[in-house]
Amino acid sequence: MRTIVAMPGDGIGKVVLPEGLRVLHAVGFDANYVHADIGWEFWCKEGNPFPQRTIDLLSEHKIGLFGAITSKPKDKAEAELAPELKGKGHVYASPIVGMRQKFDLDISVRPCQSLPGNPLNFIRRHGDGFEEPKVDAVIFRQNTECLYVGVEWTNPPAEVRAALETHKAMKMFKSVPSEELAISCRIMSRNACRRICEAAFAYAHKFGYKSVTVCEKSNVIRETSGLMRNEAKVVSKSYPGIALWETNIDAQMMWLTKNPEDYGVIVSSNMFGDIVSDGFAGLVGGLGFAASANVGRDVAVFEPTHGSAPKYEKLQPSIVNPIAMILTVCMMLDHLGETDKAARIKGAVAAVVKEGKVRTYDMLRLTGGPGVFAHGAASTAQMTDAIIANL
Ligand code: NAI
Ligand code: MG
Repeated sequence: MRTIVAMPGDGIGKVVLPEGLRVLHAVGFDANYVHADIGWEFWCKEGNPFPQRTIDLLSEHKIGLFGAITSKPKDKAEAELAPELKGKGHVYASPIVGMRQKFDLDISVRPCQSLPGNPLNFIRRHGDGFEEPKVDAVIFRQNTECLYVGVEWTNPPAEVRAALETHKAMKMFKSVPSEELAISCRIMSRNACRRICEAAFAYAHKFGYKSVTVCEKSNVIRETSGLMRNEAKVVSKSYPGIALWETNIDAQMMWLTKNPEDYGVIVSSNMFGDIVSDGFAGLVGGLGFAASANVGRDVAVFEPTHGSAPKYEKLQPSIVNPIAMILTVCMMLDHLGETDKAARIKGAVAAVVKEGKVRTYDMLRLTGGPGVFAHGAASTAQMTDAIIANL
């Protein structure tokens, strides 16, 4: 039997992950689930939000299901550390970024598909009425490189500054003292760009999408965005049936509401992929609906896009929407080749959304809090129950 590493994390991660497991059980997916520690609690208690024992479990079992974690700014990280750990040189680093780098989870997949009947779907004015375009975009985001690598300085050391000044464009900073300079490097490798483009095209081919859009800014950021664009061109030659479109991230965001239905698979670097995937997610229901996969050669971790929403953690019964987590579970099943079970769950989610009787507070555009039930909102568990009843 397969073993899944279950990492609820913090806040509502602890609420939604068990809902995902309930659905997995109901659909008849047999697995062992081993709990693994991750998140703020372990930063505070151990000075490490991503303990070695969790790394070991992921190395062994290869498949992780993750809820969400809490991250806080530098001053709070130091302040909340257990007294005996203070001043011992512990530095907080995001366990998600750490996990992606440690296991080279370089391919992030973020499907953004509108479900008919979702009151949060984007609508557009059309003549005197409104139309609701069917959005079906799948964003492939390079997950490990680009601006997120962390090669950055405030007050760069002299040798860094000297190296950068070998570039003539640095002239404009000549009179700026180093203490007043902040530098973040955008670093991308051909291999990683090639892999994300190959993953995007292979997916488009497998699921019949007619286009892959490479979304960058290669007219200005000529080297790094240019590299991604070139790799997309190279890979596209092996897929003559799929059109390669190119957009710039800024224009793409402007066009987001103009013709989102025209886009299929989108491929992008880490920073721009983060932006464009949140943009598309907003058209199909936002954080309550956004699922994602982080896939490497060896290990894959599946997570809803939302964070730990700490203000809702303790609310009983819980109000948050479990659909993002439940769609995340479907991505895991698809990855494991359990496509029938994934399709059954997706069908059940679609049926509940279409029927419109059971809606969490976000779907009713209510302000979150215990009062939402009086306005007809379903609880987290009621939403999951309705989905299970439709399996
Ligand atoms: P968030 O995603 O936790 O919450 C933002 C707001 O979105 C919430 O207040 C809530 O109104 C709504 N929301 C989120 N998930 C929802 C759901 N399932 N159903 C209904 N509504 C939902 O982002 P925020 O508030 O910026 O960050 C809170 C903490 O989460 C921070 O510590 C942040 O660092 C962390 N975070 C973690 C992420 C992760 O684990 N992947 C991603 C984003 C933020
Ligand atoms: Mg994001």
